[in-house]
Amino acid sequence: MISRFAPKPGKEDPQKRIAGTEAASYVRDGMVVGLGTGTTVYYTIRTLGQKIKEEDLNILGIPTSLDTRNHALSLGIPLTDLDKHPVIDLTIDGADEVDPALNLIKGLGGALLMEKIVASATKMEIIVVDPGKLVKCLGRGKLPVEVLRFGHRSTARRLDHLGLKPSLRFDARNTPFITDNNNLILDCLPGEMEGPAEMERNINTIPGVVENGLFIGLTDLVIVGEENGPKTLKRGED
Ligand code: 5RP
Repeated sequence: MISRFAPKPGKEDPQKRIAGTEAASYVRDGMVVGLGTGTTVYYTIRTLGQKIKEEDLNILGIPTSLDTRNHALSLGIPLTDLDKHPVIDLTIDGADEVDPALNLIKGLGGALLMEKIVASATKMEIIVVDPGKLVKCLGRGKLPVEVLRFGHRSTARRLDHLGLKPSLRFDARNTPFITDNNNLILDCLPGEMEGPAEMERNINTIPGVVENGLFIGLTDLVIVGEENGPKTLKRGED
């Protein structure tokens, strides 16, 4: 299997497919496109591959993970990088939680660092989700924090002092999950956060923290895949 985010045969998720496919319609010829990571944006990447083959769509992709890189290359999507194209026209990515102001928690797929760099370098960020990702307040589930291997137990103690109950993420083989950037992930349990922007800053001041999964003020549009079609939420409309 090219991507660990691909649906199992016969197990396509219609809501994710609706959101992911709709987002591809925002991509125009000549664009540099940030390609997110996960099971929802998987459908966007698949659709872009089809459009390149069938409609001669001409784009350059910037992947946010090795998985997305391999998936995009397998579909014939030409790739570039941020050194050659420091400003991205449009990025499409998934999320784990979306609040009414379109702030996000991301990183359950383990790619939050490159996703945040790409989201910060893009003119427009579109997030694709199924309706289960919409929350009133961020913090319902885990908040992933990417940390250096060096001193990770000390870093975890500092996160614990913020009340975040960190635990080291393990992979399916029961060994510590290693990110594409050779770091570890501490999954935190913040509970519902009144001030996610302050939390984002506080976490990132801890030495050893590389980045955290709070994406504040980076999203322009959310596409929600509802059973009867896509619904869009724009920043500033809550
Ligand atoms: C990966 C991510 C994903 O975008 C997020 O976990 C959502 O994934 P999915 O669409 O599979 O639910 O942040 O780091």
